[in-house]
Amino acid sequence: MKVLEKELKDNYDKIMDAVADDFLISDGSGTILLVSSDFENVYNIEKSYAIGKTVYELEEEGYFNPSIHAKVIQNRKKITMEQKTKNSRDILVTATPIFHNDGEIKFIVSFSRDITEMVDLQQKHSKLKHQVEKYTAEIKELRRKNSTDPDVVYCSRKMEEIMETITRVAEFDANVLLTGPSGVGKTFLAREIHRKGARAEGPFVNLNCAAIPDNLLESELFGYVKGAFTGANEKGKIGLIEMAEGGTLLLDEISEISLALQTKILKAIQEKEFLRIGGITPIRVDFRLITATNKDLKNSVSQGSFREDLYYRLNVVNIDIPSLKERREDIIPLANHFLEKENEKYDLSKGFTQEAVDVMTRYSWPGNVRELINVIERAVVISRHEDIDTGDLPHEMLSAGCLADEDLMIDSISSFSEAIE
Ligand SMILES: Nc1ncnc2c1ncn2[C@@H]1O[C@H](COP(=O)(O)OP(=O)(O)O)[C@@H](O)[C@H]1O
Ligand SMILES: [Mg+2]
Repeated sequence: MKVLEKELKDNYDKIMDAVADDFLISDGSGTILLVSSDFENVYNIEKSYAIGKTVYELEEEGYFNPSIHAKVIQNRKKITMEQKTKNSRDILVTATPIFHNDGEIKFIVSFSRDITEMVDLQQKHSKLKHQVEKYTAEIKELRRKNSTDPDVVYCSRKMEEIMETITRVAEFDANVLLTGPSGVGKTFLAREIHRKGARAEGPFVNLNCAAIPDNLLESELFGYVKGAFTGANEKGKIGLIEMAEGGTLLLDEISEISLALQTKILKAIQEKEFLRIGGITPIRVDFRLITATNKDLKNSVSQGSFREDLYYRLNVVNIDIPSLKERREDIIPLANHFLEKENEKYDLSKGFTQEAVDVMTRYSWPGNVRELINVIERAVVISRHEDIDTGDLPHEMLSAGCLADEDLMIDSISSFSEAIE
């Protein structure tokens, strides 16, 4: 035992060096007796210069800022504090008094840890936290604005039924497939399903599959990990599926995706998890899926360009939006609605002449609601009178594309018989 004790004493300096980044021992009056090797680096001061000096002198010379030994002498108890060294490092110092039997301080032992990196991280963390709080508030505000925009305009029995269906399915997480010609409001109504559902507070992520080339579509959807492929963002990228967490993902123009990507999407929907490109950790996700297309997907299935199993997965609830000419009661309410918007925008108070109303009602609207919006925006700009007249409407509306009188008759009879059913 005695031998071991002696060896310990002989190796005292080395042991102390191993315990802390640096340490310093002073006597009860603050005169420095011993410092470790690391002390020189941490405080940027030579050992030989420090030993024999008092902590007060070194404090005055700016080496200690402030001197913790001075504080221990004053308070007669163990103290821990942060210090900034002369070379701008942040350190955490603890100093402990060791007392004589008579109660006087015999030694003060202090050691430090360099916490520059930790302080740095802390600052970065609190900055990030602040940013996240700011963005969260902004997103909340944007979503609130979005969800208080009650603008679905309709009057027809067909749209009334569709809106009833939308309200009902919104409550459930069932996949919805919206079909119908271009411009009838599929994308618009997908948002409506989101707004009316339990996920309204969550994100609504809309990916137009037709607008992005197939090879990019995969990374947009699934994201990728750092260094997944050449040209990839260094830090990796979060995919839209992950962004839709807790909310709704709309895959618009779903017919446009390749068979290879269809397989991946099917797997992600079935397993409710997926891998980022190049990733090995599966990511679990919880989102509601809505898809939309103006193509006949069943036809794509029989032609072999769309997977049948995916089609059935997507088509749990199918909502088919009829073209505008199949619900002509909606034309004028929609026209008035968009005219109102334009009036507000330009501070005007334009209306429609009866002739213009007649032309609009008879027109076949191949571009549906989208075409109607364009026609009205244009008419407001070019009309020189108080009311928009037939002359302010595009030429083709007055000749080609008009519904024959018989068509109008048949339509009103069928809607009449519907009404009394
Ligand atoms: N019932 C409606 N009430 C108000 N605006 C509508 C209605 N239906 C469609 N719209 C508007 O018409 C435009 C075209 O709709 P969109 O959803 O893009 O059509 P689709 O996706 O079927 O091609 C959008 O600006 C949309 O806001
Ligand atoms: Mg659309």
